Amino acid sequence: MAVGIFDSGLGGLTVLDAVAKRLPDVPLVYMGDSAHAPYGVRTPDDIYDLTTKSTQRLFDAGCDLVILACNTASAAALRRMQEAWVPDGKRVLGVFVPLIEALTERQWGDNSPPREVDTKHVALFATPATVSSRAFQRELAFRAIGVDVEAQACGGVVDAIEEGDMILAEALVSSHVDALKRKMPEPDAAILGCTHYPLMAKEFQKALGAHVKVFSQAELVAESLADYLERRPEMVGPGTDSAFLTTGDPAQVSSRATQFLRRQITFDAA
Ligand code: DGL
Repeated sequence: MAVGIFDSGLGGLTVLDAVAKRLPDVPLVYMGDSAHAPYGVRTPDDIYDLTTKSTQRLFDAGCDLVILACNTASAAALRRMQEAWVPDGKRVLGVFVPLIEALTERQWGDNSPPREVDTKHVALFATPATVSSRAFQRELAFRAIGVDVEAQACGGVVDAIEEGDMILAEALVSSHVDALKRKMPEPDAAILGCTHYPLMAKEFQKALGAHVKVFSQAELVAESLADYLERRPEMVGPGTDSAFLTTGDPAQVSSRATQFLRRQITFDAA
């Protein structure tokens, strides 16, 4: 009965934590590809190869459904995986759609034509690969009209978080928010379009100002997964044990993960 959750490193733990709270009885297998993080500066082909490898590891661990809790992989690899790679009986879902549905005030799976929404000026913070894919703008255009999106590629933030250098991460967040504000002085909403960024949510909110609504994905993804599993209960795979797997150094990754989630997390080698 396990569901797989994948990220390039530690960021997907923000999604895992929300899913574990929303679905406490579902075993979760987490796979973090820390040996190859960050993905945000890699090419789409490279991201595709690494993401399929990790997803296969999660299938092998008894997961039939894998959530790519990584915007970079969702943006650069998901569509290609769904079109040509995912085996029969398995599913791979990304993290963009639940977020965009929330931003555009839609119910899950509402595929009606695009319409005007209240939010007009959106600041998107994401990795360089996610920003250059324009996947967020493409998904948004299916659902909303008249929304102006200004994207800021936040180089360095994921590396700093993976290294546990939160002082550097905070300084980078503040300089990326300043850069965004020079292009869009008054955003109505901001999207934290990388699953590492909720770990810096307070810093983003502080730099943006209290009047900007900040959307982050963890709870939205957990809610939409709960809804999906209610409709497709058979997609909870045969695995029965929760696990944390990493391609990095298990001791170092466990210690950072424990620091971020404020509970003991023990990673094993993938
Ligand atoms: N947490 C990832 C994301 O949501 C990863 C970023 C990276 O590895 O650069 O985009």
